Amino acid sequence: MGFVRVAEADRLKENKRHVVTLRYANEYQTVVLFRMDGLEEDGRVHTREYYAIESNCPHAGAPLENASLELVEDDIEDIVDVIAVCPYHAYDLSLSSGESSYGIKACTFNVEQRDEIIYIDTHDSSPWEVIAVRAVSEQFAESTTNPEPLQHVDRYITPDQEPTTLTQWATLILKTPDPELKIAYTRRASQLFKGGQIKVIGKSTPPEKPPRNQQQVDPSRAGRRGKGGSLQSRIALLHSLANIELWAIDLAWDIIARFSNASLDPVAPNSKMPMDYFSDWLQVATDEAKHFSLLRRRLEEMGSFYGALPTHGALWDSAEDTKHSLISRLSIIHLVHEARGLDVNPATIAKFRASGDLESTEVLETIHHDEITHVTAGHKWMLFCCKHSNLDPIETFRKQVKLNFSGKLRGPFNTDDRHKAGLSEGWYNDLQGEKTSTYKPTTIKSVKEEAIADALKDTDHTVKEDHITETLKHTRI
Ligand code: FES
Ligand SMILES: [Fe+2]
Ligand SMILES: [Fe+2]
Repeated sequence: MGFVRVAEADRLKENKRHVVTLRYANEYQTVVLFRMDGLEEDGRVHTREYYAIESNCPHAGAPLENASLELVEDDIEDIVDVIAVCPYHAYDLSLSSGESSYGIKACTFNVEQRDEIIYIDTHDSSPWEVIAVRAVSEQFAESTTNPEPLQHVDRYITPDQEPTTLTQWATLILKTPDPELKIAYTRRASQLFKGGQIKVIGKSTPPEKPPRNQQQVDPSRAGRRGKGGSLQSRIALLHSLANIELWAIDLAWDIIARFSNASLDPVAPNSKMPMDYFSDWLQVATDEAKHFSLLRRRLEEMGSFYGALPTHGALWDSAEDTKHSLISRLSIIHLVHEARGLDVNPATIAKFRASGDLESTEVLETIHHDEITHVTAGHKWMLFCCKHSNLDPIETFRKQVKLNFSGKLRGPFNTDDRHKAGLSEGWYNDLQGEKTSTYKPTTIKSVKEEAIADALKDTDHTVKEDHITETLKHTRI
């Protein structure tokens, strides 16, 4: 027995899930702490207010902070246990015993509250110390300069104007250029779907390309991402990541709308995708909106804002190349581009940590954990589609990359996180896309783009950003 102080109970009130990092000498252990309040209603009594379990699933390492919870009740509806359902392969893990019906066992920890302080039992007498308590962010970060759309979505769309199907929401969001509204609508649609207020998937035609209220420049003109050392360089990096997250929101909604009636079975051509296809991609859309909001907020905290630097829409080229087939879309967007994110994120996180920017580091870590689950979703639905069409998933993926991607898949690969998402090396090693690149740089003509191009020539970063900010102020579309 070795109870270690985690935090004051009050500090844990705002979120129901926290990740607690403990250290003793050179050893670390990480635990997810679930707070169970809200379950004591209608005479139902929970047996414990807190549960704690090791942070990674003993099967293949999924972060259990993202597990969904299910209650086990006895005959008189007392809650006798809580089951965590792993987000990767849906194994069940008892939060009391750690046991799973699949025969694996996770480590669980007793949690006690004494005098408004929460303690965790580390199972040994060594002087473990809690070094970090992080809320599992389900929170969107509001803009410091323009918080209204997030708070008042009903100002922009009244309940009687709201779409009634999930694909109508998808199309509305895809056609909404304003990032704040895109986040607000995504959040609203997610609440309605999870709350059972949207039950119909429906049919709706998504736009060919989601509009932007910021003119897009060629990727080569979008500025260097920076090495992450100076403040300006970190801003440039976060800005370029925010742009990718904004496209990622659209990509998740597009896979919902465009393939809602994907026929998988030639014998039953009207077959539709099952419900968990939609809930999985809705979760991805919600995560991407959260990611954008976190990055946009960080930019503001660092003295900049989203839109201060030029952005590009190159990611949508791959969406266009794959709009004809769900298997192509899953392969290129979710198992090539999103998996590439897993490879590069750790180095980016390390740069921010080395520069002492711990707030951005935390944001990027949150994003990275979520991104593993997005690649998992791509893998899961790729397997589903291949099974229904009697195709070998790895062979099919490799063929899709050859047909719909140009260039070699570049390493170094984050084999651990790829593996967690279901991608063994056989999927991606020695793989070369053979598609002819159709990318054509467009001529820079507009006043704004010329100003941005001029600004990018400037070697003084401070002047560069001021110049762009000033330019955008006067030429906002
Ligand atoms: S069930 Fe948790 S990682 Fe596989
Ligand atoms: Fe993301
Ligand atoms: Fe993602």
